[in-house]
Amino acid sequence: MNTIIVGLPGAGKGTQAERIVSTFNIPHISTGDMFRNAIKNETPMGLEAKSYMDRGDLVPDSVTNGVVKERLAQDDTKNGFLLDGYPRTIEQADALENILSELGRSLDTVINVDVDPSILMERLTGRFICRNCGATYHKIFNPPTVEGVCDNCGGTDFYQREDDKPETVKNRIEVNLKQSAPIIDFYREKGILNTVDGGQDIDDVFKNIESILNNMK
Ligand code: AP5
Ligand code: MG
Repeated sequence: MNTIIVGLPGAGKGTQAERIVSTFNIPHISTGDMFRNAIKNETPMGLEAKSYMDRGDLVPDSVTNGVVKERLAQDDTKNGFLLDGYPRTIEQADALENILSELGRSLDTVINVDVDPSILMERLTGRFICRNCGATYHKIFNPPTVEGVCDNCGGTDFYQREDDKPETVKNRIEVNLKQSAPIIDFYREKGILNTVDGGQDIDDVFKNIESILNNMK
């Protein structure tokens, strides 16, 4: 199953991706996570990406397309993958078509997590992440079962993302609002777009996505 999850910052892409990849046993390919890892490891690509991410701007397409091309060439993607946060521009959508056609593959479906932009600031500024396993929580909407302890790994060290400061979130939402409509239209025209209401509870959003993906099998 070759799948993409798209949505504005804070729509719930990463939260749903965690569930999708464990239910359908496909790798989760998040360009944001790959950039954050590269920043942590202080690679040249990470250093370049950091200046854009710190402002909430998009990393240049030339860098992002290269990262995705390299990742999709790896063997674990042969039986399917979930791309999260890519493509985000029409240039990236075109590049993805080329990357997949070179690999002799094509997309099966695009899940569009649709939310009202007015809820995103609260979602992002309340987000915190387990430093050990990367599980994502929210202080109001999705706290761990036991306060201060990760449900997934028992870790007790959490952090907030650098780009979840209110000023940066504002720019991220503006930048992505401009880019998102053409991407959605691109996949609607291809007849592979499935939109879910991302304003529902996390479990209900997943039920909708699961039923779409089960119908693809
Ligand atoms: P990236 O890491 O992809 O960030 P983003 O798109 O801004 O999206 P987020 O990860 O912030 O949100 P999400 O939709 O995953 O929401 P989550 O599930 O965590 O990209 C970061 C940066 O990297 C970009 O700004 C750019 O600089 C660069 N970049 C990445 N890809 C790029 C590309 N293709 N091209 C160029 N540059 C690129 O949920 C958010 C919060 O809400 C959590 O606290 C969660 O618990 C909560 N929540 C989730 N769902 C619900 C729900 N249904 N109800 C209530 N709360 C919920
Ligand atoms: Mg995410």
